[in-house]
Formats: sequence, C-alpha cells, structure tokens
Amino acid sequence: MEHLHRIEENFHRTLNSIQATVNEGNSAWMNGCMGLLGDMLLFYRSNWNLSEDWAYEEMIKILKEPADLLIAAAMDCEQRLWSEAAAQFANAAALINTGSQYQIMAASYYRKNGNIKNAREVCLGLSMQQPENQGALCELFSCDVAERFWPLDYYELLAEIHHKSPPRVYIEIGVASGKSLALARSQTRSLGIDPATAAQEHLCYNSPENNPQLYKITSDDFFASRDVIKEMGRLHFDVAFIDGLHHFDQVLRDFINLEKYAGPDSIILIHDGLPINARVAVRDRSTWFWTGDVWKVIPCLLAVRPDLEIITLPFFPSGIALIRRLDPSSHILERQYDSLAQHFATLEFPDDWKERCTMLNVHMDQAAFNLADYLPSKGWS
Ligand SMILES: C[S@@+](CC[C@H](N)C(=O)[O-])C[C@H]1O[C@@H](n2cnc3c(N)ncnc32)[C@H](O)[C@@H]1O
Repeated sequence: MEHLHRIEENFHRTLNSIQATVNEGNSAWMNGCMGLLGDMLLFYRSNWNLSEDWAYEEMIKILKEPADLLIAAAMDCEQRLWSEAAAQFANAAALINTGSQYQIMAASYYRKNGNIKNAREVCLGLSMQQPENQGALCELFSCDVAERFWPLDYYELLAEIHHKSPPRVYIEIGVASGKSLALARSQTRSLGIDPATAAQEHLCYNSPENNPQLYKITSDDFFASRDVIKEMGRLHFDVAFIDGLHHFDQVLRDFINLEKYAGPDSIILIHDGLPINARVAVRDRSTWFWTGDVWKVIPCLLAVRPDLEIITLPFFPSGIALIRRLDPSSHILERQYDSLAQHFATLEFPDDWKERCTMLNVHMDQAAFNLADYLPSKGWS
C-alpha cells in the first residue's frame, strides 16, 4: 500500500510539473515532462501490470494545444502497442506544429514503428537547418542503433533477471531517476549508490514491492567508507549493475571493488559497453547521447583476466556487458590499476563495426542468446 501511494505521489509530482510548464508557456520543457509521464505509464504497465490511466486522464485535462493532445494520443497508442497509430498521431502533431521538438517526437515514433528511413529524413533535415540541435542528433544516432542492435532495451534484460531469478542482493552504481532500480522484486535486498540521487520518495520510478537502500555518495566513497558485507546483509551480492560515472578508469575501479564481494555465481553487468559511433564514445561529453569511454574496460578485462567470462550484448541503446566467473581472490587488476588506466586511456575506438564487435566480444545472434545459460540453474548459491 505504501509503495502504491509513493507511485501515485510520483505521478502527481510529474503532473504538477506539466501544469507549471503549461502555465509558463515553456513548451520544450513541457514536452520533456510529458515524455517522462508517458515513460512512467509504460514502465508500470509493462513491468508491473499496473495501469495508472487516471494520470493520463489528468494530463489530458491540463494540455491546451492541439499538437500536445495529439502527442498524448500517440503516447496512449504506444501503451497499447499500437505503434502504427502512435506514428500517425505524432505525424499529425508535427504537421500542425512545425517546432523542432514535434518533428523529433514524430521521428522517434516513426523509428519505433520500424520506419527508420522516414525518421532519419526528418532528423537530417533538422540537423541541416540547426546543426547544434541535440535532439535531432540523438534521434539520428538512435536510428543507427535501431538498425544494428537487438530490438530490446537494457531494461528488458534487467527486468528478466529480476523476474526469472531474483537476486538476493542487487547492487546498482548510478541510480539517476531510479528506473533500473525500480525493477527489483520483493525478495531482493537492493542497494543504490549515486551522489546525485534523490531520496526514495522523490525518485521518478519506484518498485511497487521493493525498498532500496540508497547511498548518496560516489561509488569510491561507498566502498571506502562502508562495511559492504553489513550493508548487503550477506557475504556476496548476486547481481551488480555498473552505470555510474562513464569513465573507463572509474568503471575499472567499480569492477575491482565489486569483485571483492562476488560469489561463485555472481554476475556484473556494465552498461554502455557498445557505443554506436566514435562521437558518443569519448571521455568528455559533448552530445546528449553519450556512452563515455566505458567500452575500454572490455578489452582491458579480456586482456588481463582471461579467467573471466565476458560477453557484450547489443541491447538498445548502448549495449550491456555481462561478466561472470568472478574471482574475489584475484588481485591482478588492483595491482596493475595505474598502468592499465594509463595504457587503455590511449586505446583508439574502432570505427569499423566488425572490428568493434571483435574487440568488445559482441554476441550478435539474438536467437542463440539464452539468459538462463548465465544464471544459476538452481538459484543463487
Ligand atoms: C546513466 S545514469 C544511471 C541510470 C540508471 N541506472 C537507469 O538505468 O535508470 C548515471 C548516474 O550515475 C551517477 N554517478 C555519476 N558519478 C558517479 C559515481 N562516482 N558514483 C556513483 N554514481 C555516479 C550520476 O549521478 C547519474 O545519476
């Protein structure tokens, strides 16, 4: 009951933001808040079978502009998996309001409906007129991803793990609005570490059945200052997800720190291991769509730790590396940390897709991937 109340509060907060942006006439920000509400509705419906249609109805009452009402209709169709109808509504919105954000929203619905050519045309046109338009660039990169990656996003992988084989302890580095953490089930003790995260009641997403322990500190501070075994309530974690600071040397440290608390079946997932192009794969962020140089940790681990099993899975939008056969008694990474950080800092990003897939050990064959092969068949030990 307490959880459902919290989720309802989250929806009210987002509705209040939409109302405030409508009052201010800040349409770009308003579209962002509407997008968040649509994503929250989709999240609870698809992962938790929870329908919060009342929030959708409240949003409709707030919106004034016909184009916004059409975008709302597109969002509603998306909830119902009517992607063709969603694209039609978004297209109609872009016809009556030629503002760039409506064009980009229409492009994203075309892409989700499989019409990548159309989506790309719209964004290329916008980018020609406004080369600095980050929304158009982000959507263009998403089109490139949609053509190469599996048609599944990384939340679907996390959701499947939590559903099929709920970890007893789940550690997440990098919580942000709480979306990935909100996939945890009742059986799991979940720990979320993020210096910028909000208190649980202020996260945008909350699990309807799990109360995470939140640490508002950096991952380095967490491992340096906390008794991790005490925090976990066990000797080992089962699943850890690294999605914090997207710098190679930081991710390597996060991996080293986590491995000390791994059991025989534990897995570590690393987000952003497969960048779509060189522009997003750099250490210093200059684009909205950004992975940082996290990818370097994969060739580094492949080279120094042949005892680990490492595969990179092309989940939308930037891949997930799955690592198991962890060994808490191995100290080689810690011993060689400085030289590894220095050596891999200069590694060139492979522009060629095939070369990239080889370097990052990408498993492209979706039909041949079976998550159960990577989870303990008799439950976590
Ligand atoms: C991409 S977001 C996480 C998204 C989230 N895991 C999800 O999928 O819904 C990255 C987060 O990492 C956090 N972060 C940045 N530096 C960090 C650090 N040193 N330790 C832990 N978290 C960090 C940021 O504050 C940000 O909220």
